[in-house]
Amino acid sequence: MLESLGTSSHDEERQGESYAPLVADSQNYRKKFYIESYGCAMNFSDSEIVASILNDNGFGATANYEEADLVLLNTCSIREKAEQTVRSRLHIFRQVKRSRPGMLIGVLGCMAERLKEKFLQEERLVDMVVGPDAYRALPVLIGEAETGQKAVNVLLSREETYADISPVRLDSNGVAAFVSIMRGCNNMCSFCVVPFTRGRERSRDAISIVRECQDLFDSGYKEVTLLGQNVDSYYWIGEEAAGMAGPGSATDTVVTFAALLEKVALIDPSLRVRFSTSHPKDITDEVLHTMARHENICRYIHLPVQSGSTRILQLMNRTYTREWYLAKIDRIRAILPDCGLSTDIITGFCSETEEDHQDTLSLLEYARYDMSYMFFYSERPGTLAARRYKDDIPEETKKRRLDEVVKLQKKLSLVNNCADIGKIFEVLIDGDSKRSAEDWKGRNSQNKVVVFPKAGGSYQKGDYVRVKVEDCTGGTLIGTALLS
Ligand code: SAH
Ligand code: SF4
Ligand code: F3S
Repeated sequence: MLESLGTSSHDEERQGESYAPLVADSQNYRKKFYIESYGCAMNFSDSEIVASILNDNGFGATANYEEADLVLLNTCSIREKAEQTVRSRLHIFRQVKRSRPGMLIGVLGCMAERLKEKFLQEERLVDMVVGPDAYRALPVLIGEAETGQKAVNVLLSREETYADISPVRLDSNGVAAFVSIMRGCNNMCSFCVVPFTRGRERSRDAISIVRECQDLFDSGYKEVTLLGQNVDSYYWIGEEAAGMAGPGSATDTVVTFAALLEKVALIDPSLRVRFSTSHPKDITDEVLHTMARHENICRYIHLPVQSGSTRILQLMNRTYTREWYLAKIDRIRAILPDCGLSTDIITGFCSETEEDHQDTLSLLEYARYDMSYMFFYSERPGTLAARRYKDDIPEETKKRRLDEVVKLQKKLSLVNNCADIGKIFEVLIDGDSKRSAEDWKGRNSQNKVVVFPKAGGSYQKGDYVRVKVEDCTGGTLIGTALLS
């Protein structure tokens, strides 16, 4: 039984407990580092910032940890299982360190922030513990660790956005990239550890975001995904003319998320723009209308609901009711009739009854999501739920309910995909199909994976191709390219 399951093949991109070692870069560095990332896209994006800082300090990436001088794990605390995965990876790295005592092991990210100094007591042979807002201090911390001291920096910041650091895209397909637009989270969903591990919400300078997206486009990228825990609360006040106006003056420009989306969409019509994650309470009509105005803002919204029961939503502190959420879905469908939708679900939250669970199932049917990320509840120390409510649903009930949600979502995904048979989509090719190098793989605007045979066309990665859908599975549309 899997703890989490996306019913589409793109599940590993978000909060899965997966990792991707960065591939080796140039050999001209003094030392080598190896990094593995776990958790959400924000963590993967942070690893690219870390790579940039390390490159500037004489460390080049290697994909082989056995030859690394510095091994880093960028960790996730979202569920207990995510932390267990990290601990079992650490066992392996400690073995290597035994035969190469000079090798340094550093733990970065959310688990570092959650456990702080305790990490060093719990996990021997870890040399550095560095929280998500302290990556600029890495060179100093490495220096300390090289002299045999244990190095810890878990200070959270109200300002840090790493706006001026150009991420190093080492593990990229050269087509799609993540761009972080904000950090932290001010919501207090009672089940969630993120506000504790990532700190207060802060928005990144809009000018630096647009510049990063423009640079990506200029170097051949065709898709950017704007990242934040709650993108709709993006809010940045900039000065119209630097040095001319002080904060609060009449010449200040306010950039909302809708305005930012538009600025990025205007870079070029052939640059696709995506974003994640939208909180149902904050996504506005203005955002939906901005999407409708620009065809290159993809028709896809990830709108986590968590539960279909108003009572449970209240305990989760999500601040909306079932009816309010359903009205939001109606609004999206009215403004963007062809919009793809996905969600996150937690089963077995504190006190969840069979009736609450049935409410979740019926909400899924109503929303007709294309896919869902589904989890059973995992109590996280220090969260509001851990302090206030009893984790009283037996694990087998949590898992059985998860199983039912997964089964229903699989059915809905298949029905939705079958309804696409006969349609023509513009697909951005991002690589070979996983199953066969004879087929291309890409995505349509709705974020569905589309595969089609290479034969008969001369396309390459990064091309847009019109594909007619002829068949499907629950996770993939299968078609042929239309030669035009
Ligand atoms: N900011 C994003 C979510 C980040 S965490 C948002 O608001 O949507 C991603 C997902 O992990 C959450 O949406 C939730 O479904 C799940 N999750 C978070 N904490 C969890 C916990 N304690 N147990 C199980 N699943 C959890
Ligand atoms: Fe966690 Fe809620 Fe913030 Fe998402 S919005 S990161 S679920 S507290
Ligand atoms: Fe995990 Fe931290 Fe992201 S807890 S989901 S890596 S913000």
